[in-house]
Amino acid sequence: MTVKRSIVLGTGSYLPERRLTNEDLAQMVDTSDEWIVQRTGIRARHIAAEGELTSDLAVAAARKALEASGVDAGDIDLIILATATPDNTFPATAVTVQNKLGLTSGFAFDVHAVCSGFVYAVATADAYLRTGMARRALVIGAETFSRILDWEDRTTCVLFGDGAGAVVLEAADGEGTTADRGVLTSHLRSDGSHKDKLYVDGGPSSTGTVGHLRMQGKEVFRHAVSMVTDVVEAAFEATGTDANALDWFIPHQANRRIIDASAKKLGIDPAKVVITLEDHGNTSAASIPLALDRAVRDGRVARGDLVMLEAMGGGFTWGATLLRW
Ligand code: UT7
Repeated sequence: MTVKRSIVLGTGSYLPERRLTNEDLAQMVDTSDEWIVQRTGIRARHIAAEGELTSDLAVAAARKALEASGVDAGDIDLIILATATPDNTFPATAVTVQNKLGLTSGFAFDVHAVCSGFVYAVATADAYLRTGMARRALVIGAETFSRILDWEDRTTCVLFGDGAGAVVLEAADGEGTTADRGVLTSHLRSDGSHKDKLYVDGGPSSTGTVGHLRMQGKEVFRHAVSMVTDVVEAAFEATGTDANALDWFIPHQANRRIIDASAKKLGIDPAKVVITLEDHGNTSAASIPLALDRAVRDGRVARGDLVMLEAMGGGFTWGATLLRW
């Protein structure tokens, strides 16, 4: 049976030039390189320059993804940008990205699912491509979390950074089996009863201000592993695959301990886990495409590989996508 599949044509990513190390942070708040590395695995994060916006990061990553795909910007008819740090309350930053890429055709919108944003955006683009509403999609995760951090709160400011990653997806015909290239299955979940554990204390409708990120880290940690393993197992079950069949596990890059515990619970060989957080911290919706682009460019992820993407974040939201490269 012929089915539509969304195959990945290429990836790209971008990190702002300014690198803030753990030692730099120790000059700003009561923390240490030892504490941050032990508890999180993070060694440095990148911070957008003054005037450098989420859309700028997104465009830089998008251009690299287009180049890697051999696709002209003009061939894109859908742009989905996952972000919790838009340039403005409106218009959607995706529309600004569309404009900065010189496009006036097709359509663009933002997806807001915080750290799970990229998985949500890939699943959304996949649905549009499979139904024929679009043919070629640019899916981007881009964030400037440095703008919503409380730089005096050591429990949060050491964890996050700025960055962007992107993929180009194209509709192609598949056989309807797990041997097909492209997105094989996506599983999304949310539960708003956890709102107070990870949120921003401002917004256009509540305070009229942008606000700052607030997190009960231990509580988020407590839920993360079981939520992540639940959706990954759902993806395995839906496709009749398992941890042994997997070539690469590309998790949201929030905390090394969460990633290690999730992989262990799922029975995934540590050698198959892509970890890049030590260089960029938690970049929310950008973290999966940043890790994915690294693993594609250094030759780890290759044609035919089975790749699992997963994330969990504010809301709570969580999700997993299984695809064949
Ligand atoms: O994408 C999803 C988003 N969020 C996450 O994934 C984060 C999930 N949570 C975590 O990653 C971890 O909970 C943290 C890294 C945030 C914290 O690690 P923890 O092992 O849960 O530490 P804790 O919150 O229990 O804090 C332990 C101690 C506390 O001191 P006391 O009360 O034991 O004296 C904190 O005040 O560490 C202290 N502390 C710090 N010390 C040095 C908290 N932040 C820092 C810091 N530097 N930056």
